Amino acid sequence: MEKFYITTAIDYVNGAPHIGHAYEKILTDVIARHFSQRTDDMFFLTGTDEHGIKIQKTAAANGITPKELCDENAQKFKDAWKALDIDYNKFIRTTDDYHEKAVQKIFNKLLEKGDIYKHSYEGLYCTGCECFLNPKDLTEDGLCPDHLKKPEVIKEENYFFKLSKYKDAIIKHIKENPDFIVPAFRANEVLNQLEDIQDISVSRAKSNVQWGIDVLSDAEQSIYVWIDALSNYITALGYDTEKEPEDFKKYWPADVQVIGKDILKFHSIYWPAFLMALDLPLPKHILAHGWITIDETKMSKSLGNVISPTSVLETFELKEPDAFRYYMATSAPCGRDGNYSDDDFKEKVNAHLANSMGNLLNRTLSMLVKYFDGVVQPKNLSLVDGANELLKKALGTVKIVENHFNHFEVAEAAQEITGLVDTANKFVTDNAPWTLAKEGKIDECAQVLTTVMEVMCIVSAMIYPYCPNIAKNMARQLSFDLSVKLDDLTADNIKVGKLISKEDITPVFLRVDSELADKSAKK
Ligand code: MSP
Repeated sequence: MEKFYITTAIDYVNGAPHIGHAYEKILTDVIARHFSQRTDDMFFLTGTDEHGIKIQKTAAANGITPKELCDENAQKFKDAWKALDIDYNKFIRTTDDYHEKAVQKIFNKLLEKGDIYKHSYEGLYCTGCECFLNPKDLTEDGLCPDHLKKPEVIKEENYFFKLSKYKDAIIKHIKENPDFIVPAFRANEVLNQLEDIQDISVSRAKSNVQWGIDVLSDAEQSIYVWIDALSNYITALGYDTEKEPEDFKKYWPADVQVIGKDILKFHSIYWPAFLMALDLPLPKHILAHGWITIDETKMSKSLGNVISPTSVLETFELKEPDAFRYYMATSAPCGRDGNYSDDDFKEKVNAHLANSMGNLLNRTLSMLVKYFDGVVQPKNLSLVDGANELLKKALGTVKIVENHFNHFEVAEAAQEITGLVDTANKFVTDNAPWTLAKEGKIDECAQVLTTVMEVMCIVSAMIYPYCPNIAKNMARQLSFDLSVKLDDLTADNIKVGKLISKEDITPVFLRVDSELADKSAKK
């Protein structure tokens, strides 16, 4: 694999980040980390979307300038991603000067090409969506179906982008590239939306929206959010900026763009059309993930159930984000909705990370210390029934996991890893190394432990994208080099003769304390 360019949606900064934003960034980080185990050339972009009426109104309501609101909240997003070990390469803010200038150039290019024209328009605007709605998409009561708010009637002279010109080309692209939209079941929705697609407004009158990028050639108009926001994926790489666009040449088109299902239309219709108009290639995949609910209820300020990205770490006094990352990344099959609940979190991470994976490593290494003074024994796997098969299964799991990631099936891949750990646990139970030791079958006992240690090296590599700190701790205890590329993984990872001392053995994940969760529930 040569390079891998992955992006997230850029978040609105009219509020602080919540667990839904966190879900997307974790999912993307897991995919990015997995592919960084397959290529040396990874670029992961995230950032914040800072213009528009929503931000203008929130700032006004708080008695501060939009820029002050953006600075304050963008920092909250950065802090949250740091706490969750989101290892991005670049964080773009749409108020960054280079981005604003590049968007003005992009707008001008489209204007000169004749793909943007001025037109007087009356439409229904939803501030939540930051877009005009089609009357046929409203609820029976005339509300925006996503935000359940009445859209504003707006009559303005705006610039329009000729989306209709690209309709047929986009339909063709979607039909000819069935893996362009992931998961594939969403492609039909998009094709339906394309049926009655119309030209779209790409500017707003400055008299109504001041917090936007100015149209260079028209002092009365500011560029409306979507053309500004979507361009971030290329301006961040240097497209139409003053710096040499080396990164753009190297990384574009994106390998995958991760977004929520609510903004699929913008990414699979508007974005391809803008790119076609600019004569640029389209991203290879758009991954539309589902939504996260809290205790099966949609998160909303009015219900007071909005959870901050780091509150789970605080509730359970977790020093590292691994368990939360694991839980979120595995909360739903590819593209489906997921749910967060304290009880489910506790149950899942205790079962998978502490009981199954952590314990297996811990008791294996403890037995090595007990029966062999911690010295890793020479290999002779054929002494134990099923040892070679288990190792073969471990290496086979790597291929299955890679294949799931090729389709961005992050939860499905994790299921394979936990399945392998379960098989390894069964191997230990079936072979009972403690009984073998008691019966004097010390060589057989050694081989059981060796086999499991080999498997755990492979597990640490596969679990790394989800739980980087746990994986590093596992690898340290096994003296395994975690920087190995997945395709170079062998069944020969452990170092014969290496001494593992009792002090080196630490539980990789401590069970989440139920008392802590109960305390928080009573708060
Ligand atoms: N600013 C636009 C995106 C522009 S991308 C060029 C936007 N911002 S947002 O803050 O509203 O949403 C950012 C991302 O978070 C979107 O992909 C959205 O789907 C995702 N989520 C917001 N709430 C969510 C959940 N409750 N669950 C999962 N993801 C959700 O849209």
